[in-house]
Amino acid sequence: MLDQVTATRYVTPLREGGSLPGIVEADDFGTYVVKFRGAGQGLKVLVAEVLVGELARALGLNVPRMTVVDLQAPIAKYEADEEVQDLLTASLGLNLGIDFLPGSFGYDGSRPPAPDTAADIVWLDAFTANVDRTWSNPNLLVWHRNPWLIDHGAALYFHHGWPSRGADPQRFAVQPFDATTHVLRDVASSPGAAHERLSPGITSDLLRRVVDAVPDGWLEQAPGLENPEAVRAAYVDHLLARLANPSAWLPKDRS
Ligand SMILES: Nc1ncnc2c1ncn2[C@@H]1O[C@H](COP(=O)(O)OP(=O)(O)OP(=O)(O)O)[C@@H](O)[C@H]1O
Ligand SMILES: [Mg+2]
Repeated sequence: MLDQVTATRYVTPLREGGSLPGIVEADDFGTYVVKFRGAGQGLKVLVAEVLVGELARALGLNVPRMTVVDLQAPIAKYEADEEVQDLLTASLGLNLGIDFLPGSFGYDGSRPPAPDTAADIVWLDAFTANVDRTWSNPNLLVWHRNPWLIDHGAALYFHHGWPSRGADPQRFAVQPFDATTHVLRDVASSPGAAHERLSPGITSDLLRRVVDAVPDGWLEQAPGLENPEAVRAAYVDHLLARLANPSAWLPKDRS
């Protein structure tokens, strides 16, 4: 599901991004926004990006293509900016690349998506507990007049709780979702209808394919989750449990 490329040049940091993402060129001549494994947020945000981004794509939403970007030592060595050099040195190995969308701009409400598309996005965020799509941080780009979803690193936050609080799918299954601050809340049609449209597509086969796309080295072990396969299975269990409990998290239709 994810190709792998090798970074050939670090171009520039994206100053807006909290995790110091940067623009990187690769040996396939592609230009990518790279989320670095060595950024403070750790590997779990890369896992959330892949799982939620690929689920969104499978549901028919626009998500820039993602790829695994191998970063090798010479790129870090010749970087002049010390802060960037430290980040690159801490990020040797496999990082996440997101196709750079040239000429895109941040969603400002001037080109709202169709009501059903907006509802599908609200549904995706409620299902994956993504709190990061608000007016202060829309994480939605407009490109060729269409909305494109980015930045799913804050979703699936249950994984930050394992191991100390255990991996308990039932807790995530009933975690409520507050849609009142969602950037698309006022343009979205019925979340209930979106659930009817989308939930049948979230099969265990799809979840399996999506967790298989995550490189083994990003799947941190925890007590009870002692190898990458166990971690993958835990993600599938959590998402299936939540899918079966929409009454706990599905936003209400606006009256
Ligand atoms: N694929 C892309 N194409 C073009 N620009 C992008 C792309 N991905 C991100 N950007 C730009 O970079 C900014 C930061 O990206 P992103 O939100 O993914 O990073 P982040 O570090 O998780 O940010 P934050 O935590 O501040 O939300 C975006 O707001 C957007 O302006
Ligand atoms: Mg962001």
